[in-house]
Amino acid sequence: MKKTYQKPAISRRQMGITSKFGTPQTSGFQDNIEGIPVSELTAAYGSPLFVYSYPRLKEIFQNAYRAFSKRYPKVHFAWSYKTNYLQAVCRSYHQLGAWAEVVSEWEYELARKMGNPGNRIIFNGPYKSPRGLQIAVQDGAMINIDSFDEIYEIEQIAEDLGREVEIGMRVNMNLSTLQSWDRFGLNMESGQAFEAARRIAASKWLRLVGIHSHIGTFVLNAEVYREQVRKLIGFVQQIQQAESIKIRYIDIGGGFASHNKLKASIYPAAYQTIPSFDQYAEAITAELLNAFPAAQLPTLFLETGRGLVDESAFLIAQVVATKRMNSGMRMLVLDAGVNLLFTSFWYDHTILPAENKAQLNQEAHHIYGPLCMQIDEICNTIQMPYLEKGDQVVISPVGAYNNTQWMQFIHLRPNVVMIGEDKSIAVIRQAENTEYVQQLEALPPWLEKDGKGRSAKG
Ligand SMILES: Cc1ncc(COP(=O)(O)O)c(C=O)c1O
Repeated sequence: MKKTYQKPAISRRQMGITSKFGTPQTSGFQDNIEGIPVSELTAAYGSPLFVYSYPRLKEIFQNAYRAFSKRYPKVHFAWSYKTNYLQAVCRSYHQLGAWAEVVSEWEYELARKMGNPGNRIIFNGPYKSPRGLQIAVQDGAMINIDSFDEIYEIEQIAEDLGREVEIGMRVNMNLSTLQSWDRFGLNMESGQAFEAARRIAASKWLRLVGIHSHIGTFVLNAEVYREQVRKLIGFVQQIQQAESIKIRYIDIGGGFASHNKLKASIYPAAYQTIPSFDQYAEAITAELLNAFPAAQLPTLFLETGRGLVDESAFLIAQVVATKRMNSGMRMLVLDAGVNLLFTSFWYDHTILPAENKAQLNQEAHHIYGPLCMQIDEICNTIQMPYLEKGDQVVISPVGAYNNTQWMQFIHLRPNVVMIGEDKSIAVIRQAENTEYVQQLEALPPWLEKDGKGRSAKG
């Protein structure tokens, strides 16, 4: 689409030289998503409004897949359900070839309902319910155990079924530049992971076929993955030599950063610090290719979440009030707050006016949401033109973790739409209403009548 000419403007800077607190966001505007005017989207579907772009989602997935598959012959992405379990999002990834990665019985059920057979579902997490484990074992899912307790539990299930069950094991490790997520999986340095591998090898009912580790999230240094993979390879070689174990897969979890801006980041734009998929892929696959002969390469699994989906979604919000605070700083109240944008606790999202306001002076603003709660702050300081009630903004990227961690609190959750490759718009989740929110509630008999003695059922 031809870009709209934006007249140059001189704007007064009230703050904003680069400092340890970072630089303020630069101005600009976003009046459309995939060529569809923002005003048209909200006129049809209301405000606030989550908007997913399928073309963008597809492009990012294909770039990521290409970065790995051109380097490594046996690679699968498994969609991390907790990052976003809107059905349209999950289905998009599955159609593009991704397996599923889940961390609870409920997520497992969602993945099955999406049409994934058990053997294309990776089951992770520190708590897999007994029923969830039973089903997953019977389905032949890839279960990565998190503790000794799970070894014993699956062993019992296998014995009850009278057949051997293949499992993977999550491990954790010390890394030179990243704090260890040692509450998940079994530790390598302490020997715990080795002990667990030996325990599994000694079992008549279990076979260890995979090693999993997820080192963290928003990992900004691709070289940390090199270190992770090196350590995993060392561990695999150690257990393969010591026991009659043959590891078929290495699952390195998720953690790639998206093009968002962490609050503490001193860089004004995300792309200055975020490694590309090629950089991540190079660090990960080079180590594997060096360590194993071609015929013995393990299958590589990636459970990338935010790195795939974040940039495919936008949140359109409206200014519902403006004010000047005691500090003198101007503030905006939006109709979307932390109830919809959980990630604003750690990101400074890009927030752009939905109209070209270049002719207006910019000044520093606080941006708040609509909740009657002090914590409902979307952005602490941002340079914005002088927006007024009724003006709209587009907040991005918002595709990761918001539509799973959003809350129905004070305000109901709004419509979510997806724009297709042909620019058609589909509602992928309807705005909630009171009936939806209360449908699982009931009044006990002694509370059925209201204050005037009338039955609540009418
Ligand atoms: C086991 C596991 N895999 C994958 C992910 C997805 O991580 P990310 O969204 O950082 O890629 C997570 C998230 O915490 C996780 O715990």
